Amino acid sequence: MALEKKIRELKEKREIVSKGGGDKAIEKQVAMGKLTARDRINSLLDKESFHEYDLFVQHDARDFGMEKKELHGDGVITGTGTLNGNPISIFAQDFTVVGGSLGRMHAGKITKIMDHALKMRMPLIGINDSGGARIQEGVNSLAGYGEIFFRNTLASGVIPQISVILGPCAGGAVYSPALTDWVFVVDNISKMFITGPEVIKSVLGEEISQEDLGGARVHAEITGNAHFFAKTEYECFEQIKKLLSFIPWNNSEKAPKTAPKPPKKEYKIDTIVPEDPKQPYDVRNVIRAIVDDSDFFEVQEMWAANAVIGFGRVNGETVGFVANQPLVMAGVLDVDSSDKIARFIRYCDAFNIPLVTLVDLPGYLPGIDQEHAGVIRHGAKILYAYSEATVPKTTVILRKAYGGGYIAMSSRHLRADFVFAWPGAEIAVMGPEGAANIIFRKEITEAADPEAMRKEKVKEYSEKFANPFVAASKGYIDSVIEPGETRRYIIHAIEVSERKDISMPKKKHGIPPF
Ligand code: HXC
Repeated sequence: MALEKKIRELKEKREIVSKGGGDKAIEKQVAMGKLTARDRINSLLDKESFHEYDLFVQHDARDFGMEKKELHGDGVITGTGTLNGNPISIFAQDFTVVGGSLGRMHAGKITKIMDHALKMRMPLIGINDSGGARIQEGVNSLAGYGEIFFRNTLASGVIPQISVILGPCAGGAVYSPALTDWVFVVDNISKMFITGPEVIKSVLGEEISQEDLGGARVHAEITGNAHFFAKTEYECFEQIKKLLSFIPWNNSEKAPKTAPKPPKKEYKIDTIVPEDPKQPYDVRNVIRAIVDDSDFFEVQEMWAANAVIGFGRVNGETVGFVANQPLVMAGVLDVDSSDKIARFIRYCDAFNIPLVTLVDLPGYLPGIDQEHAGVIRHGAKILYAYSEATVPKTTVILRKAYGGGYIAMSSRHLRADFVFAWPGAEIAVMGPEGAANIIFRKEITEAADPEAMRKEKVKEYSEKFANPFVAASKGYIDSVIEPGETRRYIIHAIEVSERKDISMPKKKHGIPPF
């Protein structure tokens, strides 16, 4: 009987505490078009799989009237559950409890679940909806964020870390996500900034809306902080599930294999790339013509669109695709696309995902803007990332591979395992026109008909270098293949690389051009 009473009391306590900031605050949250923290967890994880911990944790702040406040769950829900049938750790900040702000005990709940995730080698999902460090708690909140950042760094490259931004997030609530692997945002709901509009107004006297400062589109299109953009929270959860279906649960496992499927018939690989090297096309259709069921899951689709990155399966095996996108700025490499590509290579390398690189680019983008934005430093990140990556690396040159672009895009010289080229590939220091203008300048200007001479010299240069056979004759390319043979060659390359084992010189770590 006594036990029954205690169980009843426990149920009542659970009921009260699980209401977060109370009915009114929840109403406000829902009116803003947001789910509650608890609904978010339950919608994302497998049905009824969530197990909560530290529900009764209380804050210990004693200043600014905080001593009189009881904060249910201290503004964050933490626990474990399953997703796609596999174990997962999760926390969701509750904006209804003092704006989801992070104090000492709130941070303690998060670091505890992070420690579980790392120890059990399972992914960590953090749902961020927080005004950042709890101002009333002073240095204790800063200490809390420091502890989180440290753990984000320890877990980096060991377990997948996923951040979902589902509210106005400031300060540490965006710096922790920036240290994680994947950031998901939702239109009209997600906001990310280091300092919010109110602080900006008081310090700089400028008025700016949360949306303009750091809305979902700002981070999906301009800053590149977000990797996935969704229209609704539910769509966002589907994206998370899809991502997790492609990647392994930790760095000592391989991504789950699925039953092989052929690409859809509507993607005809030999008709996608135009012969004229100046004509654009969508390289994603080439990827769709290669991957199982033509299912390509693109990452950072809206940012630095001159490069395409993402996951697909080839004969059931997850592959990380990197490609130049001739549809946008002719597929050149610039500051942002270099950052985008380099980081993705490092993710795939850390998590045992083979890389396939599709090359068609005129090189690095010239000009004062790019030079001053640091294209040397950023561009070098690709060279570093490919050189360092030890996962199987397969490269297919579709059309142009000029200059630094040829070297950077997973060339033999950066230790690609297999390099294939289509018959229309052009491998040269630069495009025939630019090259002829430089090396035959004298002949062209002194000719009776300079334009005719220029055309002749362009043709001469094209015939000599604008083909794959010079590179193939040196062994820089392993095979010149028909477009229709591409999938078969990639499948085989990945199969024979199954037991690839190479080691790098012993060192603590390198010094990449961050
Ligand atoms: C304590 C906070 C808080 C915070 C919000 N609240 N942020 N309480 N500490 N950091 C409280 C508000 O007082 C309010 O309480 C409730 O949460 C809801 O906030 P609103 O301001 O009404 O909501 P909204 O208008 O949507 O604005 C959200 C916001 C804004 C943009 C996040 O609240 C804001 O700018 N907060 C401060 C952001 C910030 O500068 N944080 C510190 C960052 S420094 P009531 O009781 O009125 O409902 C940091 C250190 C780490 O994080 C640094 C990393 C390197």
